[in-house]
Amino acid sequence: MITGLTAATAEAGARAQQLSLLGREHMLRVPRNPKYGTAFTREEVTIHFQAAEELYESWPEPTCIVVDGPYGVKGFPGDPPKPDGLARWYRPHIEGWSARATPQTTLWFWNTEVGWATVHPVFVEHGWEYRCCHIWNKGRGHVAGNANSQTLRKFPVVTEVCVQYIKPAKFRTDGKTFSMQEWLRYEWRRSGLPMNLSNEACGVKDAATRKYLTSDHLWYYPPVEAFEGMARYLNTHGNPAGRPYLSADGKRPISGEEWARLRAKFYCEVGVSNVWEEPPVRGSERLKKGVYKCLHMNQKPLRLIDVILRACTDEEDLVWEPFGGLCSVAVSAHRLGRRCLSAEIVPEFFEAAASRLATYDIG
Ligand SMILES: C[S@@+](CC[C@H](N)C(=O)[O-])C[C@H]1O[C@@H](n2cnc3c(N)ncnc32)[C@H](O)[C@@H]1O
Repeated sequence: MITGLTAATAEAGARAQQLSLLGREHMLRVPRNPKYGTAFTREEVTIHFQAAEELYESWPEPTCIVVDGPYGVKGFPGDPPKPDGLARWYRPHIEGWSARATPQTTLWFWNTEVGWATVHPVFVEHGWEYRCCHIWNKGRGHVAGNANSQTLRKFPVVTEVCVQYIKPAKFRTDGKTFSMQEWLRYEWRRSGLPMNLSNEACGVKDAATRKYLTSDHLWYYPPVEAFEGMARYLNTHGNPAGRPYLSADGKRPISGEEWARLRAKFYCEVGVSNVWEEPPVRGSERLKKGVYKCLHMNQKPLRLIDVILRACTDEEDLVWEPFGGLCSVAVSAHRLGRRCLSAEIVPEFFEAAASRLATYDIG
């Protein structure tokens, strides 16, 4: 007779065996001495051994892009020695991301403070909007024993930044380009109806005019039902000569479903602020190289990557990781049920990242 406990143990044993077989199976497919242009895939997550800029055009549109590339500190092959060269370095990549991003896309840019300051204008030039700068505080332990206060000419640095950008939708009507806020007002005016009728359209007392049609900074994005109410109202009561109103193609109004896709997702996790207290990666999570402490200087904590992926994606959404390293984003995406495309150009890092993805969840 099998008791509850034995049954559970037997089940756990079978599962462990299954996982380890699965792991070995994955391991078998991990390329050794990989050829440039090959890739490793586990379910919906793929790591390419190829320069990211060669892949953007063929990758499907991302819901999220996590950028952890050069810092201008000579940290890995190809990292410029100083931050001054970073804007030039990132420009072709920012062009690639901008061409493939949609209004649903959120981009997270990891760097040093000055590295980010140097690259920020290139993001703005390409239509990206700054949302928030998150400070990763690694704690004083990060420099303990390494910082000689007798010779230092500044305080020891224990932080990196992770900056959130979105690429807001732009709307064209009458040959002019508008932001979402401007466009809603423009369309309402164009209909010839008084602004306060938007309240009737949305079935509210005064919130619609105040929140959705204001020109000041207290503007709110109209939720789907409110947008649908306004579109219905304008196209029923607005000046017939100007119809359709709230349309992207001049033929029919934007549907509620399309409207929902016109802005980036964001889920605000309770307890998370813009300061992230987290030590550098240590213990079993840190990939090592023989006797050396770490295989890759820039390995990011999975806990922080989990936070940013959960904040701006749903399961099945596609994440891009153009500068993979040990592909922490690919691992986090896999365990959270997101799809992911990563790229890495150093064979040693690619191989290590592929094995990591193949085995990270196997004891
Ligand atoms: C800062 S590290 C990424 C570390 C990673 N976030 C992790 O947790 O392991 C940047 C990586 O980008 C790679 N890289 C640099 N230029 C690249 C390119 N054009 N395409 C793909 N990878 C690139 C470098 O070899 C380096 O390993």
